[in-house]
Amino acid sequence: MDIFRIEGPVLLAGSVSIKGSKNASLPIMAAAILAGGESSVFGAPDLSDISVFSELLEQLGCRVTKSPDGRLRIDSTVVDNPVGEYEVVRRMRASICILGPLLARCGRAEVSMPGGCAIGDRPIDIHLRGLRELSAKIHLENGYIVAETQGGLAGAEIFLGGPFGSTVLGTANVLMAATLAKGRTTIECAACEPEITDLANCLNKMGAKINGIGSPRLVIDGVRRLQPVEYEVIPDRIEAGTFMVAAAITRSQIRLQNCRLTNMMAVVDKLRRIGVTVEPEDGGCVVAGTERIRPADVTTQPYPGFPTDLQAQFMAMLALADGNSIIVEKIFPDRFMHVAELNRMAANLRKEGPAVIIAGVKKLIAAPVMASDLRASAALVLAGLAAEGTTIVNRIYHIDRGYERIEERLAPLGAKITRESM
Ligand code: EPZ
Repeated sequence: MDIFRIEGPVLLAGSVSIKGSKNASLPIMAAAILAGGESSVFGAPDLSDISVFSELLEQLGCRVTKSPDGRLRIDSTVVDNPVGEYEVVRRMRASICILGPLLARCGRAEVSMPGGCAIGDRPIDIHLRGLRELSAKIHLENGYIVAETQGGLAGAEIFLGGPFGSTVLGTANVLMAATLAKGRTTIECAACEPEITDLANCLNKMGAKINGIGSPRLVIDGVRRLQPVEYEVIPDRIEAGTFMVAAAITRSQIRLQNCRLTNMMAVVDKLRRIGVTVEPEDGGCVVAGTERIRPADVTTQPYPGFPTDLQAQFMAMLALADGNSIIVEKIFPDRFMHVAELNRMAANLRKEGPAVIIAGVKKLIAAPVMASDLRASAALVLAGLAAEGTTIVNRIYHIDRGYERIEERLAPLGAKITRESM
């Protein structure tokens, strides 16, 4: 199993180009199921999650190939096995977003129920509720969701809100299914994440009729069929945010290329409030850390609020702020596996229910730490860049799920980070 060895503290400099969005690529790959034929996705990052999703699509009958230029070709002419097997789904929860497209394309789908997750309870009741509103018959059998339609799906008025507000993949599932349903569907309390906007734009390019894109009310007029598409995914705003925090936590200045600040306004606003400068420039920005990181209050919310996927990274940074901060996690109230690990690096964090109180310290001290999930592992790498001494990050397979060879992107910026097999 690989580990990262990180020498700190370091000063970073130079530029990094942001990769395509993982969380836009996955539902867009699922959308290829809707149109028989060959679709191409450009810019999908080279990540284990993308490979697992390709494997899943192959299981359904699709053919997935990747060309040297990173183009993902998904041939969905044949989808003769609408079954998402446990062995694949258990490795990646996002597999659930094949349910809607399979139902719409094949009239039947069997998808393994996703299991537990390190970041907390993640039910899919809203996905199923939305698909039932589109007249799907759904039951659970041996751990599999079995969904069927008689004579195709039918449009409906659907409120898709839940206890934590909108659901991203729930919106993706119902939106994709509604594109081929008879009549009109209105989704109220739809997720407005840029990844959903990207999916909806891709579906419209395939011939769907979706209005209200980017708003909490999506109106979809069903069509008889969709066409294969060639589509380029948006840059990854969470990866961009992670590199911005790398600059802030090391008090460095770096340039980010290929990042869209318009998709990250809550993040940029928070960085500026703590003293970091973020200067837009063509297709990117220059981020400069500050000697004195000001404390801040951060509450995670559905987009356009502050993203939960940057909560851990900001916690690592605010651990070094000049004063007390508080982070409230309103999307995944138990998403705090990184707290104990950061405290091992001499941070002063105290968990209180869905919040963490952060008493800023002068410095972090290196230690061996354990990654538990994708974003927590990114936070530990960032802490290692700023900490005094040698940090060992274990179980880095978590980080490979969402960041393409991050050590090869950080090292040219001056980070002393190596991957070692244990
Ligand atoms: C997506 O997950 C992202 N994953 C997550 O990113 C991200 O953290 C999350 O959205 C929130 O922004 C992908 O896009 C692949 P939700 P998703 O449904 O869609 C509750 C990363 O690090 N809920 O929006 O699964 C749920 O428990 C990953 O890249 C229900 O109660 O998240 C949560 O509390 C981690 N019932 C809240 O809603 C449901 O049926 C939001 O979850 C669905 C969700």
